[in-house]
Amino acid sequence: TASFETVLFEKKGRVGLVTLNRPKALNALNAQLIAELNQVLDACEADADIGAIVITGSEKAFAAGADIKEMKDKTFGDVILQDFIAPWERITRVRKPVIAAVSGFALGGGCELAMMADFIIASDTAKFGQPEIMLGVIPGAGGTQRLTRAVGKAKAMDLILTGRHMDAAEAERAGLVARVVPAADLVAEALKAAEKIASFSLPSAMLAKESVNRAFETTLAEGVRFERHAFHALFATEDQKEGMAAFAEKRPPQFKHA
Ligand code: CAA
Repeated sequence: TASFETVLFEKKGRVGLVTLNRPKALNALNAQLIAELNQVLDACEADADIGAIVITGSEKAFAAGADIKEMKDKTFGDVILQDFIAPWERITRVRKPVIAAVSGFALGGGCELAMMADFIIASDTAKFGQPEIMLGVIPGAGGTQRLTRAVGKAKAMDLILTGRHMDAAEAERAGLVARVVPAADLVAEALKAAEKIASFSLPSAMLAKESVNRAFETTLAEGVRFERHAFHALFATEDQKEGMAAFAEKRPPQFKHA
C-alpha cells in the first residue's frame, strides 16, 4: 500500500484499486495526477500478486476532464514540444485487465481516460460527455476515436459537436458502459468483477484482453489468426492443464498464473 498526493492506491487481494483524488477540482487531470497514476500502473504491472486493476474517482466525479486552469495558457509551441497528452496513454499499454468504475462526471479527458480502460462499470449517477468544443478545442485524449468506436458515428458526433452530457442509462444503451449499478455499490461491484477476473489464470486474461483489442487494430481474418495463436499458446501453460483437469475432476481449479 502506497499513497501519492493526487492518487490513492490500495491492494485488495489480487486487485489494485486506484482512486483519483483531487476532490476540490472534481479530479481534473493535471500533469501530477497523470504522472502519479502512471507510477501506480507501473507498480501494478510489476507486481505478480496483482491480476486486475480498478480505477475509480469520487461519488461526485470520476474526472471532470483535463485541468483547464493548468492548460489554459499553453501555446501551440508548448503543447507540440511537450507532446501534451501523450503521457496519458500509459494506461492503454497496461497488459493486465483494467476496469474504470465511474460515478458522477466523466467529462472530456475523464471520459477519455475511462474509455482507455478495458471496460466501464458505471453508477446510475454517471454522466459522460466530451464538452471540449465549449472551450474552443476538441477531445485530445482519443475521444473522437474511442467514443466513435464505442457508440457509433451518430451519437459520437452528437456528443462531441454539442458538448452535451449523456446519463448512465443512455451510455449503457449506446454500448459505452458494460453495466450500470447503484451508486452506493459501485466500488464493491467493480472490485467483485476485478477479483473474479484476477482469480483466473493471468496469462489467459492478458491474452484475452490483447485479442479483443486486436479487433480495433486489424482485419477480421488477421484478428482471428491472432486469437488462434494466442489460444494455442495457452496450451503451454500449467494453468490450462489445471483448469481443464479440474473441470474433468469436478473440483475448483488452483491457478498458478503460469
Ligand atoms: N479543470 C480544472 N478545474 C476544474 C475542472 C477542470 N476540467 N472541472 C471542474 N473544476 C473545478 C472548478 O473550477 C471548481 O473549482 P473552484 O471551486 O476552485 O472554482 C471545482 O472544480 C468544482 O467545480 P464546479 O464548481 O464547476 O462544480 P459544478 O458541480 O458546478 O459543475 C461540472 C461540475 C459541470 C463538471 C463543471 O465543473 C465543468 O463543466 N467542468 C469542466 C468540464 C470540461 O469542460 N471538461 C473538459 C476539459 S478539456 C479536456 O479534457 C481536454 C482533453 O480532451 C484532454
